[in-house]
Amino acid sequence: MPKAAVESATPYLPERRTLRVLQQAVQSCEGCDLYMRATQAVFGEGPAAARVALVGEVPGDKEDLQGHPFVGPAGAILDRALEEAGIERRDVYVTNAVKHFKFEQRGKRRIHKKPNSAEIRACRPWLEAEMAVLRPRVIVCLGATAAQSILGSSYRLTKEHGKFVPHAWAPHVTSTIHPSAILRAPDEDQRHAQYRGFVADLEKVREMLDAA
Ligand code: URA
Ligand code: SF4
Repeated sequence: MPKAAVESATPYLPERRTLRVLQQAVQSCEGCDLYMRATQAVFGEGPAAARVALVGEVPGDKEDLQGHPFVGPAGAILDRALEEAGIERRDVYVTNAVKHFKFEQRGKRRIHKKPNSAEIRACRPWLEAEMAVLRPRVIVCLGATAAQSILGSSYRLTKEHGKFVPHAWAPHVTSTIHPSAILRAPDEDQRHAQYRGFVADLEKVREMLDAA
């Protein structure tokens, strides 16, 4: 079969939609080229009753090998910040805007690469289906890729982070920086400042939950 001109996950989505069914079905997705080199697709995880969905960018090296989202260094920062912000793990579902690891091979290392607009668009139906089943109260875009997928390319995370907007997928959508950006900060002062900003945005999410 000739490859479709427009890459999209849509033909691979199952008719029956539960988180488990979606998680199994995503393993067969060929909606864009990223499935070819990745070990496996990494779907979202967390309790079905979670009120918060955190949406990252794309699985990293560890996530690709283990098959679970946010189990690497970015996940460790995320866990710490959630705890500091007072958000309980049983309230949190974590996933990514793009489900297959994108990387560049450098010697033995696989260096994470940012998914492009076509890949983000292709993978969006999985995220949409996932959110339609989960129906979270709050969706938090972690970084610009998730924000682009959910809020569109004109959304300015640097200006709008920490604010809430209504959305078809959830009553409240907000954004904050990606935890990997904290890891990449050039020095300790900036790392600290970025981490404080990250926790402050997550505290607003906790306040939103408390108000419900
Ligand atoms: N970064 C992401 O965006 N997602 C992960 O699952 C891990 C690192
Ligand atoms: Fe399908 Fe998304 Fe993987 Fe592309 S990245 S093959 S759209 S699951």
